[in-house]
Formats: sequence, structure tokens, C-alpha cells
Amino acid sequence: MNTLFLDAAFSKETERPPVWMMRQAGRFMPEYWEIKNKYSFLEMCKTPELAADVTMLPVDLLGIDAAILFSDILVTGEAMGGDLSFTQGIGPRFANPVSTLADVEALNVDCLGELQYVADAIKVIQQRLDKKLPLIGFAGAPFTVMSYLVEGGSSKDFKKTKLFIHNQPEAAHLLLAKIAKVTTAYLNMQIAAGVNAVQIFDSWALALTWNDYREFSHRYIQEIIANLNRKDIPVISFCKGSSVFAPMMAEANPDVVSVDWNADLLNIKNILPAGMAVQGNLDPHILYADKPVIKKYILELFERMRGEKGFILNLGHGIMPDIPFDHVKYAVEVVKEFKY
Ligand code: CP3
Repeated sequence: MNTLFLDAAFSKETERPPVWMMRQAGRFMPEYWEIKNKYSFLEMCKTPELAADVTMLPVDLLGIDAAILFSDILVTGEAMGGDLSFTQGIGPRFANPVSTLADVEALNVDCLGELQYVADAIKVIQQRLDKKLPLIGFAGAPFTVMSYLVEGGSSKDFKKTKLFIHNQPEAAHLLLAKIAKVTTAYLNMQIAAGVNAVQIFDSWALALTWNDYREFSHRYIQEIIANLNRKDIPVISFCKGSSVFAPMMAEANPDVVSVDWNADLLNIKNILPAGMAVQGNLDPHILYADKPVIKKYILELFERMRGEKGFILNLGHGIMPDIPFDHVKYAVEVVKEFKY
């Protein structure tokens, strides 16, 4: 087993920082499109053999240090009763958005059975990985999943979501509590099925003020993490906004805080409790740039983090679909050649 990723997540010494990239199992790989042209995105997620095929693409083509389950953060919202679709060019959509307390009350929390296909996929993936590489499971954080359920899809300004938390806080809290309950059970199901780590994605937390982040996001993540069967399973907390929210994220007691690209990574690490690792934080746009620029940014980050235990190299957010594949491959090579 390549243990670099798990060792770094638990702040043990490693000979070099491990590398994986958020959204590594996706559209920047031509081989992804060979599968995507035959099946819809949700079919791919729900067919364990296909989900395993896509999970393995970056393992086989990039040589990264951890695999991440191929799925989506919105499958919890679908299992609870959201009418989910993914359309090319439009992105995710819930056709029955939530806007009233009655809508929230109608959502189902006893829905783990609807997500059995994820446990099945994890078992197939673990057979393919053959104990050579760790597998990361994941879920969306309650606030980010709520934003899609309320907006009915992606949003630039989160206007409906913010109106919902400000004008209907009771309904918002009930919705967040329901998502948190499902998410806890869902991540524990992934752990029971065999994932080696879990990451919670709160992509849109950056829309919130400090106090609203505490009330409408942080406390639900804290509740989820407190109820995970996490022995030997590192928990990674990611949000966009982590440059600001990192000290509060740490209060939820993850093993790793995954940091966006705005902050200096060492400064963030230094304000976290001792023994809490960081993951990040290259600007994914660097991967569009010429190879010498990519190398320069990676080496600068390594120099800054020299001597630190508990550092996983990743991006500050996911890979964009039009980043050239060979730039991503080159970035992984630069990391793997590095020796402290
Ligand atoms: O990291 C990985 O590669 C594993 C798989 C993964 C996907 N989505 C596959 C996917 C993961 C971890 C996610 C998480 C996810 N999904 C997040 C959090 C991470 C982040 O980037 O902020 C969010 C916000 C979503 C919601 C979502 N799903 C959006 C906004 C979209 C479409 C548009 C877009 O630009 O990303 C999706 C669809 C999706 N999820 C695709 C993939 C490979 C593309 C589907 C397609 O081929 O059309």
C-alpha cells in the first residue's frame, strides 16, 4: 500500500508530500469522455462497474497517491427526494426546489437504501485498487447541498439560499439537520463499505458571513464529524472560504483542513491545533499555464512547507474540465520527483 496520503493526513513524517487533486475523476481526461459519451452522468454514478472505471482513470493515467470515489455531492439530496438531473452545459438541477417548511418536512431522512449503489461501487473499486492505494469517500456539507436544493441548481450569488436562512431560519435549520443526519449515515456507510478516508465538501461556504457560517454550516459539519466511525479513517474538511474559516473548521476536529488558494498555506497550518494537517492549495488556474510556471508554483509551495509534517498537495478547488491533461500529468510528476 502506498501510505503517503494516509501518513500525511495523520501528520506522520513522509519522504515527500502526497498528491491528489479534487475533481481528478472527471472531464479533463479524454478517457472520461469515452465513457461519458455512452452513459449519462447519473448512470455512471449508479453503475458500480462504471463508477469504478472512472475512479481508476486518474490512478492509471496520472499516478496520483490517492483515489477518490466517482460520485457527486448531490446524491444525498436526490435520495432525500430531490428530483436531480445533470444536463450538459447547464449542470446540476433539482426540478422540485425547496422553498417552504412543508417542502422541508416532506424530505425523507430514512433513505440510506437509495444510496446502496455507492457502497456497491466502493467494493468494486477496492477490488480494483487491490490494497495498493487508499480510496477517499466523500459527501457534500449540509450548507452546500442545501444551496442546490433551494436554488434548484447552481447559483452565482446564492440569493434564494441566503433569503431562506435569513427569513425562514427555522425551516433552514430543519433542512440542515435533516441533511446532516443523512450525511452522517451516508459517510458511515462508505466507511463500512471500505473507504480509507472521507472528505466533506462545503464548496459554497464562502458566500456566508462569519456568524452565518457558524450557525448554518459549521455546527452541522461539527455534528457530522462527531458522529463518524472514524478510527483509522482520516476526515478532511474542505471549503471555499477556508482561508477565513480555517480556525472555525478546526473546532469541528477534522484530521485535515483543505485550504483554498487565497491564504498562505503555512500561515493557516500555524493557526491550526498541533497535529492537524493541511491540504492544498494551488490555484487550479496555474494548471492552464506553461509547464515552467506550473513547476515554479509547486516548488514555491514545497519550499514554504519544508519541514512540515501533515501536508497533502492538492488544489484550492477542483480541476476545470478544459485544463490540458498533460499539464495535470506534469504537475503530478513534479511532485513525485521532489525529495525533502
Ligand atoms: O473529485 C472527483 O473527481 C470525484 C468525483 C466528484 C464529482 N463531483 C464528479 C462530477 C466530486 C468529489 C464532486 C463533488 C462536487 N459536485 C462538488 C464539490 C466540489 C467542488 O468542485 O466544489 C460540487 C459543488 C458538485 C456539484 C456539481 N456536480 C456540479 C456543479 C457539476 C457540474 C458542473 C461542473 O462544472 O462541475 C457536477 C457534475 C459532475 N460531478 C461532473 C463530474 C465528473 C461532470 C458531469 C458531466 O460529465 O457532465
